[in-house]
Amino acid sequence: MDKQLDGRTVFITGSGGVLGSTYVRRMLEVGAKVVATDLPGARADTLKEAHGDNPNFGYYDLNVGVEEEVVEIFKRVMADGWQPNVVLNNAAITGEMLMGAGKPFPDFADTSVEDFERTMRTNLTGAFMIARQMDRDIVGKYPSALINVASMYALNGAHHPIYDGMPFKNFSAYGVSKAGIHGMTVWLAGYWAKRDATVNTIAPGAVFNGHSEEFQKRVGALIMQDRMAQPDEIADVMLFLASKHAGHMTGQMVNVDGGFSAW
Ligand SMILES: NC(=O)c1ccc[n+]([C@@H]2O[C@H](COP(=O)([O-])OP(=O)(O)OC[C@H]3O[C@@H](n4cnc5c(N)ncnc54)[C@H](O)[C@@H]3O)[C@@H](O)[C@H]2O)c1
Repeated sequence: MDKQLDGRTVFITGSGGVLGSTYVRRMLEVGAKVVATDLPGARADTLKEAHGDNPNFGYYDLNVGVEEEVVEIFKRVMADGWQPNVVLNNAAITGEMLMGAGKPFPDFADTSVEDFERTMRTNLTGAFMIARQMDRDIVGKYPSALINVASMYALNGAHHPIYDGMPFKNFSAYGVSKAGIHGMTVWLAGYWAKRDATVNTIAPGAVFNGHSEEFQKRVGALIMQDRMAQPDEIADVMLFLASKHAGHMTGQMVNVDGGFSAW
């Protein structure tokens, strides 16, 4: 019997994170070839340790904010024999990552242009550069799909009070960048439609990653299902979007948020 992602070669940015590593594992299980990329470091090393022996797995260091790296990436992976037909714009600076260990999270009034632009550079300009490179190297040459990753905070405002007293907050540039991500999806969907390329957005809700009971309670109260998602529940939908069964979908945002956005 055919596996769900037979014939798919999925290129993923930010592959070593909570969700990225889940996508890699699940996609390999259902027949995909996976070209994983991330910043060099511990996350990437863990991913390589987990899948390095699998002939359907390849890994490349890639900073999506560095134009020279993005311009070369598909040429590099193609020279090694991979032919990505699904591209996943998954890399992002999240609030937790932005400030780094020990640095206090700034109020909006104290948010520096540098921190705002650093987030936009990875989350939005980086995603744009990947999409532009896909246009140059893949789109029109063979059928392809781009999946952009937004958030429940793309088209809905962050609920600031749930972060009171928490070690992390929701950062202004995060929501701004994620709204822009969906803007890019709808812009590109029509632009690529006649070249056999689809582009959709997945908008995950709050994903559990060791959060405190108190935070789970606060965020759960905003979610119809009254709980955070498990990474595999986001991956279930990502697998569908990456499969041939999503072939007639383009320009859509798919919310996987336990009902958060429907209330
Ligand atoms: N976890 C959630 O609750 C949640 C909710 C909604 C949306 N999302 C989105 O899902 C995606 C994955 O999130 P996650 O929870 O796995 O986050 P994560 O922080 O665990 O992983 C993000 C990954 O992006 C990488 N990255 C950061 N800057 C980069 C750069 N310049 N170039 C390349 N890679 C870079 C990091 O190294 C990391 O591996 C992100 O786009 C995030 O915004 C996550």
